[in-house]
Amino acid sequence: MLQAKLSVSREEAISSIDERLYGSFVEHLGRAVYGGIYEPGHPLSDEHGFRKDVLDMVREARVPIVRYPGGNFVSGYNWRDGIGPKQDRPRRLELAWAAIETNQFGIDEFADWCRAADTQGMIAVNLGTGTPKEAAELLEYCNHPGGTALSDLRRANGHAQPHNFRVWCLGNEMDGPWQICGLTADEYGRKAHETAKMMRWVDPDIQLVACGSSAMELPTFPVWDRKVLEYTYEDVDYLSLHRYYKYKGDAKELITSFADMDRFIDTLSATIDYVKALKRTRKQVKLSFDEWNVWDSEMPLPGRWLEGPESHQQYYTLLDALAVGGMLCTLINHSDRVRMACLAQLVNALSPVLTKNGGGMVKMPTYYPFMQVSTLGRGQALAVRVQAPMVETEHSGDVRTLQSAAVYDEQAREVRVFALNCNEEDMLLNLRLEAFEGELRMVEHTVLDGEDLMAVNDFDAPERVKPHAAPCTPVAGERAQIRLPAQSWNVMRFQV
Ligand code: AHR
Repeated sequence: MLQAKLSVSREEAISSIDERLYGSFVEHLGRAVYGGIYEPGHPLSDEHGFRKDVLDMVREARVPIVRYPGGNFVSGYNWRDGIGPKQDRPRRLELAWAAIETNQFGIDEFADWCRAADTQGMIAVNLGTGTPKEAAELLEYCNHPGGTALSDLRRANGHAQPHNFRVWCLGNEMDGPWQICGLTADEYGRKAHETAKMMRWVDPDIQLVACGSSAMELPTFPVWDRKVLEYTYEDVDYLSLHRYYKYKGDAKELITSFADMDRFIDTLSATIDYVKALKRTRKQVKLSFDEWNVWDSEMPLPGRWLEGPESHQQYYTLLDALAVGGMLCTLINHSDRVRMACLAQLVNALSPVLTKNGGGMVKMPTYYPFMQVSTLGRGQALAVRVQAPMVETEHSGDVRTLQSAAVYDEQAREVRVFALNCNEEDMLLNLRLEAFEGELRMVEHTVLDGEDLMAVNDFDAPERVKPHAAPCTPVAGERAQIRLPAQSWNVMRFQV
């Protein structure tokens, strides 16, 4: 059997994890909103038309923050279309995804939905067709208590209390040639700077996210990030990162996507440090990895100008779930720099769950690692020291075949270890948990694996791919030997 060593010490903390590392994303895309979070008339919907099965899922996975309303959608969106009496709201051609936007769900409905889902919103403003003034006005509409035309309009629309959204994204992927009214780094840097100024004057307590590179493949990477930060370093709190991974026929390449994610984060952390030095400032801008996932980006659109089209509905495989697990470990291991992240997206579009209009919901294999890490990956992130066989990959060169992360939850007095065995063979993990005061006992080990890496869950077999319990291994002092099955995602809990 293959052998690996993994050591974790209570004394080597990376950071205290910001729970917003386990955020998600709802865009007006496909059936994410219409038929996803919002489906009036569905037997499971509440009085607002919010699907309760989806709300339950968001609460079960303890999703702490949800980005909205885009994505590419936001760069052509007029937020005023989505407020006021529903019968008066305009139907529009939505240019980002060639759909019809009915505007039956807007910012007020999103605020209500966040409350029902027990989460908070991360709101993106339109810096494509939109102006700094419109962004500041949306913030005033949402967060100002009252006594001005816009805040009173919100009150008249049934929301006496401010929505009080704390996190705001200054546009979306403005370096992407696909973006509605994309900008050069200099244009965006200036526009983001002026928008940030106006928004902070409206509400000084917000946190702002500047658009970083949307992909390492773009020729603008990473000059874009350096230039944008030179304009905005003192204005913003976060730089955003977006990255999607695709299965191209080689399981080894997808399962090791975490190595690419590592590099992306390291490069942008270095870019931030460079601008920080240039500015002679003590301020530390952090990273918001506010779009990440596996995405088969070649899925065709079902047609143009459809309402709530069945687009971007990906049936995720076991292999995709393993890749997602590996990436979650990367996020934890960089949690000192990456404070927020959003799995893109939440429901129906590129999502860990799929719903049927008028029908039920099915959890994709990717739901499980996301839910497990979101619920258990809280507390202190601990450094992991790993020795494991290497594999040669085309995309990332030599990569270690054991990806892992560890956290210590002081309240629960539990160490949680997440581990992905990328090999086609079982691996014996020689685990050492150092400097925990007290006896250690393994209380749970779950494994997500299977014969067929391409297996999916669907409405006929919704539980085909699901984690199962493995026997707990005795811990001798600080050490345990644990079998990690071939190509498996493992979640292990140890009580101290
Ligand atoms: O999540 C789907 C799309 O991916 C988003 O709209 C965009 O920001 C990214 O390119």
